[in-house]
Amino acid sequence: MPRFLSAQPDSRLLQQPWDTPLTDWPVDKLVALPRGISRHVVRFIRVGDEIYAAKEVIEHLALHEYRLLHDLNRLETPSVEPVGVVTGRVTPDGEPLDPVLLTKHLRFSLPYRALFTPGVRSETVGRLLDAMVVLLAKLHLAGVLWGDVSLSNILFRRDAGEFAAYLVDAETGEIHDELSKGQREHDLMIAKTNLFGEFCDLEAGGMLDEALKPIGLVETIENRYHELWNELTGAEEFDTSEMHRIDSRVRRLNALGFDVAELDITTDLAGSTVRIQPKVVDAGHHSRRLLRLTGLDTEENQARRLLNDLDTFRVRTDQQGADEAVVAHQWLTRVFEPVVASVPDDLRAKREPAQVFHEVLDHRWYMSEAVGSEVPILDAAKDYAKTVLRELPDEDMSAASVVPVVEEGGRRLANPFDPSQGYLDENDTEKPYDPWEDGVEDTPVPANEFLDVEALRRKKG
Ligand SMILES: Nc1ncnc2c1ncn2[C@@H]1O[C@H](COP(=O)(O)OP(=O)(O)OP(=O)(O)O)[C@@H](O)[C@H]1O
Ligand SMILES: [Mg+2]
Repeated sequence: MPRFLSAQPDSRLLQQPWDTPLTDWPVDKLVALPRGISRHVVRFIRVGDEIYAAKEVIEHLALHEYRLLHDLNRLETPSVEPVGVVTGRVTPDGEPLDPVLLTKHLRFSLPYRALFTPGVRSETVGRLLDAMVVLLAKLHLAGVLWGDVSLSNILFRRDAGEFAAYLVDAETGEIHDELSKGQREHDLMIAKTNLFGEFCDLEAGGMLDEALKPIGLVETIENRYHELWNELTGAEEFDTSEMHRIDSRVRRLNALGFDVAELDITTDLAGSTVRIQPKVVDAGHHSRRLLRLTGLDTEENQARRLLNDLDTFRVRTDQQGADEAVVAHQWLTRVFEPVVASVPDDLRAKREPAQVFHEVLDHRWYMSEAVGSEVPILDAAKDYAKTVLRELPDEDMSAASVVPVVEEGGRRLANPFDPSQGYLDENDTEKPYDPWEDGVEDTPVPANEFLDVEALRRKKG
């Protein structure tokens, strides 16, 4: 009998075919979504309207990763949400199977292979690097040593004009009270080594802009990490006549999306110089404020954009002196919600609401520039849905949209549920000799189609 370890069990999960290896699960239970390369068998499974990521992995690693993901969620670091671990799996023939770690599929997430399409602009790559660096710094601030930083272990979500990065693979992670410089540098070194390899792969596959070189990219990551870390935690000394520098340091951190919970301020004996050093820094300055005011849970840059629009609304409606929460509620019901509601149902899987709102604001700006006067936001929203959104690929969970995204140079994946099996190669007609298959009659697998799992199973049985 399988056993479930879970803080919030979804009873529908109990009825899944746990006595079957994940590779043999019926296709109607799976969803083909883009994902990174993995050593373990990973499948996305659909249970009702939820999508879970299921990873087959040995018991102690599954339990370690489950607990660590819990802690990461508690520490509010960006990571996937753990759902449970299924242990004690046995096939009907009595063969033991590895446990399965279940996490919630991170909606609207984009694995890097979906982002590094040929022709990706170097600014986009820069934004991805920034998101990675911010993720690493957030983890380090929380005392998390990741140990396995790599592109495949990161998921990206759109965040206004930027990206937000999430940790997806916590197998090797450790939580400490505080990390030493040596520990942080160790993590950074692993990041550099893994990322260098991954960038070289992308380069070899023609997915990296000619102007970008793997070595340059990893150096950028290292430099930006040090810059950010220094800004977040470095000490600053100045003359007592420059006390405004305390305020500007806090503002600079806020602008980077961080709050200073504790600032250590000391003066020298003579009282002529001041030394400040942020001691406790929390990420999510804008997103926390937006959540408090409106209940909207967004990424940091989306929150910044929405808060700016809220400020504009306040001025426009001449409510400078009014209570912030009241104005926020008006803005939510009169501006934000109508814009989001104006998106036709069939386009909802393309972008999340906060991202739609951000893109509508941009669109209104372009429209207003073109006509020389301000276009009402709802008109801009309708035009945006019709002319922009309709053309964009779905980024939520539509399987139909997903396969072309992971297609490289026109090739099709051998198995859309498992990108690690690689691509069907039309030119490769010569079959490698396999002694086990010798003499077995061939059941042809249709070329250029997805793997016909049923046909293979018939052949096997
Ligand atoms: N909750 C999730 N939401 C979205 N995608 C996910 C989720 N869990 C896993 N994935 C996707 O599946 C891929 C593989 O998962 P994961 O990295 O945990 O496997 P792994 O076998 O442990 O990898 P590694 O080879 O690094 O050990 C990830 O790169 C990611 O794209
Ligand atoms: Mg991984």
